[in-house]
Formats: sequence, structure tokens, C-alpha cells
Amino acid sequence: MKYEQIPVGPMENLSYILWDTNTNISAIIDPAWDKDIIEKKLKENNISPELILLTHAHSDHINLCNYFLNNYKNIKIYMHKNDTFLLEKEFPNTIYIKDNENIKIGNEEISIIHTPGHTPGSVCYRWKNLLFTGDTLFLGCCGRVDLPGSDPEAMRQSLIKIFKLSDDTQILPGHSYNGFKTTIKAQKIANICYKYLNTKEDFYMIIS
Ligand SMILES: [Fe+2]
Repeated sequence: MKYEQIPVGPMENLSYILWDTNTNISAIIDPAWDKDIIEKKLKENNISPELILLTHAHSDHINLCNYFLNNYKNIKIYMHKNDTFLLEKEFPNTIYIKDNENIKIGNEEISIIHTPGHTPGSVCYRWKNLLFTGDTLFLGCCGRVDLPGSDPEAMRQSLIKIFKLSDDTQILPGHSYNGFKTTIKAQKIANICYKYLNTKEDFYMIIS
């Protein structure tokens, strides 16, 4: 499996393409803002997307879903049902995913970790030691928890879950705030949310 990180749009969003190098079957994670650059990357790698994986349903992460649905045959969207309240209308061809399920990309399998907090349907996608964290975990901080459907305690529990993964896990966030990639090991030192994770009151203060 290979991936490319693609900076897009005015809000430091990061879209990703992820593909099985044996079958060339590929997924786009959070397709947003700039179809030209995403399509350029697909073309450069000679791949056509069959899956769209959403980390959550905020518009800055999904505003190209309809474009890809309309322009690529049989493309399927994967998202958690708990985020449908954020959509004007549910997407056609959607598969609703749950914690611990696996998704096949060609001959490879990625797993889903449900990480509510930023939104109730936020998820992280994991393949081996790569973790696509959306707006759950950034370099140095975590996602906002003051938005509709946000839940600070759910965020705390989700981060506890993520920080149990092995230290060499590569974190690939949904925005490039403070940088583009990191590891669990580095975030145990540099992330203020991790520092205060074990004390509810302190954690709530830090993230409010
Ligand atoms: Fe978001």
C-alpha cells in the first residue's frame, strides 16, 4: 500500500489518496477543495478511485464527494452514521461503518477506529502503522469540541484509545496545523492534550 498526502484549500486541509500497489485499487480520504490537484495525483500514480473514506462529515473535508460520485463510476462512500446529521442530504452509494470493522482496498485491509468527540461520527482509519486521524488528532493539539455534536468527554476517551497504539504509529492528520505528520511517540511529548488526558478538569480547560 502507498499513500500521498495532498494539501488542499484555504483551511490547511489534507486530503489523501491511498492505494494497493498490487491491484491499483484506491481510496480518497476526505476529498475536498481542489479536484484538479487530487486528480493530478491520481493520474500521476495511474490509479482510479473506487472508495471515498470520510473521517467525518464537516464540509471542509467532504466538499468534493458529489464531484467524485458524479464523475467516477461505482465509487462508494464510507462514513459513520452518526455524522449524517451534518449533511444536507445523505450521499448515494454510502456504506455506514462501525468501530473495529475492516474495509478492503484491493488485497489490503484497513481498520476503523471510532473516535467521537469532534463530531459523533468521527473515525480514524488505520493501516499497519499509519493512522489517518481527521480532526481528532493534530500535531500538538486535538480537534475542536465546541461544535454541534461535539463532546469533550468523548474526545478524551477517543484520545486515550489512540494513545494506546504503538509509539511508532504515524499520525496523518486532517489539517496541517503545526505540521504534516508525526508519531504517537512524538505526540506523547509535544501534545498538550495528551499531557492533561488523565485529569478530566484539566483536559476540559485545555481544550475549551
Ligand atoms: Fe472538522
